Amino acid sequence: MGSTEYMSGFGNEFATEALDGALPVGQNSPQKTPYGLYAEQFSGTAFTAPNALNRRTWVYRIRPAAMHGPFTAFKHARFHNRFTEVPTPPERLRWDPFPAPAEPADFLDGLYSVAGNGSAAHQEGCGLHVYAANRDMAGRFFYNADGEVVLVPWSGRLRVETELGILEVAPCEIAVVPRGLRFRIALPDGEARGYMGENFGAALQLPERGPIGANSLANPRDFLTPVASYEDEEGEFELVAKFQGNLWHAPIHHSPLDVVAWHGNNAPCKYDLMRFNTIGSISYDHPDPSIFTVLTSQSDTPGTANIDFVIFPPRWLVARDTFRPPWFHRNIMSEFMGLIHGEYDAKAGGFEPGGASIHNCMSAHGPDAESHEKAVATDTAAPQHVADTMAFMFETRRVIHPTRQALESPQLQQDYHECWQGLEKRFDPARR
Ligand SMILES: [Fe+2]
Repeated sequence: MGSTEYMSGFGNEFATEALDGALPVGQNSPQKTPYGLYAEQFSGTAFTAPNALNRRTWVYRIRPAAMHGPFTAFKHARFHNRFTEVPTPPERLRWDPFPAPAEPADFLDGLYSVAGNGSAAHQEGCGLHVYAANRDMAGRFFYNADGEVVLVPWSGRLRVETELGILEVAPCEIAVVPRGLRFRIALPDGEARGYMGENFGAALQLPERGPIGANSLANPRDFLTPVASYEDEEGEFELVAKFQGNLWHAPIHHSPLDVVAWHGNNAPCKYDLMRFNTIGSISYDHPDPSIFTVLTSQSDTPGTANIDFVIFPPRWLVARDTFRPPWFHRNIMSEFMGLIHGEYDAKAGGFEPGGASIHNCMSAHGPDAESHEKAVATDTAAPQHVADTMAFMFETRRVIHPTRQALESPQLQQDYHECWQGLEKRFDPARR
């Protein structure tokens, strides 16, 4: 595999071939395919899903995906979907950065489950994990039947070699890998750390823009999908599957990254978060953070996401006579946050790149005392540039359950609640 060229667009009907003429013309499964390839359909929605949501791809490959041995259980102590092992506290939760691996670990070895909700069995909810790796996946391929994978690196690049082509992603970029697509991850920088969201629900799509119009937020042209790239290798390899919350593995005697050509819209992509066109108030007040939605997975309830991927990128704050940081709030939706780079403007410390926080349904939170003091003293006649920052949030309709290991980890900050205890009583009935 070599090529890291991309095609631009989100959810487009792409067509790409690594060998001239490998893509059949005019039909999907001709009796005889060019180069003796096997034709196979890879669907991401029900066959009968509406056109606007329908996702499927036709692949032309050296061997069918069906060609692998039987699955047996694959033990992984830290990566799972056991979200109800311990009662979920209503507490505001925050973690220091999760550590780099102490031993050799590839991407799969280095996955650690922090939290999640819903269930892969019901195809709703999400898994929220971090990864820390220091070696390439070698002789090993992975697919996730439970959900779409969202990779959010904060340290070190990832080379995500998929059946449909190669994505190279760096911190401040994300990769989205469709449910079930097989991939292998190499580390161009020798080590890598980041976050991984698993979306058990409907595939992520661009949010509707409503009155914002035809442009801005994440523009479709900035999503990049790889061109076809294949390898023709035989050997004793391992195919690891995540299925119903557990891992399984099967022997496979060839590389499954053997798709020579494909066409369709069920495909991986990457996106540079710095290209997000941030919309905000140019008069007063702080809009709801839904204005920062990059991608959304819709639930069966209109306007209520299974999961939204939201970012807080560099931006100008110009609203006058306004408390400019995120306000104090309690929401029905639940929030998992991570930090990719810099500082987050609602916290004066304690939230580091590689760390995480959970603010669940009706758990009250907002700026800490120091950030509040600063915001109240700010001269709002002057614009303010929040330059050095890139935070993200998975916001979801269901309560997020931290795993036992995350609640018992030394990274959990026992004193997080303290950041709000210094907020002064300002009330004075004699002073209007
Ligand atoms: Fe919040």
